[in-house]
Amino acid sequence: INLVFIDSSGARREITSPEGQSLMETATMAGIPGIDADCGGACACATCQVYVAEEWVGKLPPIAEAEANMLEFAANRQANSRLACQIRLTPELDGLTVTTPEFQF
Ligand code: FES
Repeated sequence: INLVFIDSSGARREITSPEGQSLMETATMAGIPGIDADCGGACACATCQVYVAEEWVGKLPPIAEAEANMLEFAANRQANSRLACQIRLTPELDGLTVTTPEFQF
């Protein structure tokens, strides 16, 4: 599954991830800057926030209640904010493009 990460300075990195991992796991393993993931993927910290590219917003699985509650705590939350640990990578998400924030809080 090919993913594109754009950091806060606009630098672009393409990464290929195996299926089934979360977007957060892939990003942290690849050393993508801007993803802290303090809670390790338990949907309890909101420091894995990413901004989803407009064309992808509607293609992601809907925001579950736990994610919605935690997003309330995300710094600089935007309409396209998601928690990367709650996005499971499936073949449908091939090409997913997200921007990482400069700071998570
Ligand atoms: Fe903590 Fe995603 S890693 S909410």
